[in-house]
Amino acid sequence: MNELQGRKLVLGVTGGVAAYKAAELVRLLGKAGADVHVVLTAGGARFVTAVTYQALSGNPVWSDLWDARMDNNMAHIDLSRDADAVLVAPASADFLARLAQGRSDDLLSTLCLARDCPLLVAPAMNRQMWEHPATRRNVHTLMGDGVSVVGPAAGDQACGEVGMGRMLEPEEVLDAVIAFFTPKRLAGRKVVMTAGPTFEAIDPVRGITNTSSGKMGYAIAAACACAGAEVTLVSGPVALPVPAGVRHIGVQSALQMRSVVLQSLPGADVFIGVAAVADYRPLLTAEHKIKKSGETMSIELTPNPDILAEVAARPDAPFCVGFAAESRELDAYAEGKRRNKKLPMLVGNLVADALGGDDNTVILYDDAGRHPLPRAPKQEIARQIVEHLAKLLPAAAAGPH
Ligand code: C5P
Repeated sequence: MNELQGRKLVLGVTGGVAAYKAAELVRLLGKAGADVHVVLTAGGARFVTAVTYQALSGNPVWSDLWDARMDNNMAHIDLSRDADAVLVAPASADFLARLAQGRSDDLLSTLCLARDCPLLVAPAMNRQMWEHPATRRNVHTLMGDGVSVVGPAAGDQACGEVGMGRMLEPEEVLDAVIAFFTPKRLAGRKVVMTAGPTFEAIDPVRGITNTSSGKMGYAIAAACACAGAEVTLVSGPVALPVPAGVRHIGVQSALQMRSVVLQSLPGADVFIGVAAVADYRPLLTAEHKIKKSGETMSIELTPNPDILAEVAARPDAPFCVGFAAESRELDAYAEGKRRNKKLPMLVGNLVADALGGDDNTVILYDDAGRHPLPRAPKQEIARQIVEHLAKLLPAAAAGPH
């Protein structure tokens, strides 16, 4: 279950081209389990009409402070009364200014003033408007008032300019809202982790690698960051965006991964080895492209260091979490690896199930036994892994493993 399940959210939409993203955002929030109530400003209603939001949210849409549909004529009070949060996306420069001044001249500004739940805003405007000292002042004031400002991002703008002010994509706003509601179980903790495959060069254009997509590792990095951890993600080559708030260091080979991990380790509370590290690398890497000869050829391989086992064996070892992807006898192999590598926690999965896909079925192994998790998207599995790890952590602080 994710953190938005059963939450009531008021989504304010103000006047801006980015309103087209708000429609998709309503759909994503609803899919994540939130009950979404849309409030449009007069400007917001000009871009995408109430009909779209009503169809997507399954709830009536509000825009009039004097709406007679509320029996007591107090839409501004009733809408926010039992809301878990008000989110304004897109939030125009004008709306931020009115919010900073505490204006209450339409339904959205009034309910923002009358609310007693958190307020998040996702600004969207032209880059010069965003950089204007007046907007900077307003944003500063709002932050001081406890408002969470989500984005904006840099990029192409509807006006044809390029710069800061573009509203985050709907998926990114969704992630920020989920992060907002996620309990900060890893606050103050430093996590170092690996993800993705490694690439072991044979010559300048060829190498040995594996089919790891990095999806599970990146989902875990995102879940750790959501839970308040400071995350360093040491990743082999993958085609995935770096999760918000995560420090990313890209590497190629197992030896590079090992050296970056060891450099990043001082002060780490947790090390999570999700990477599918190549077990072997070519003993020699050719300086120039190897020419084909038509003859059979062999490449001599030498074992790579086991990064996780090395970290776990250190006297000052952080809390270490390993992964085991097996094609059979998961329990025996996974528990065997956990014991051999001296890990307090290991996540096991059957390879046929996990590789490259968006869903996964895993079993967690720790000193208390095995804990199967139901099949779920990798993001949800990641959240549960982090929750389990956070529960084991206080005990881990008592001494090395
Ligand atoms: O490859 P194996 O099944 O032993 O991997 C188990 C765990 O050990 C994984 O968490 C993986 O990231 C880690 N590992 C490592 N360095 C290696 C091999 C595996 O850190 N050379």
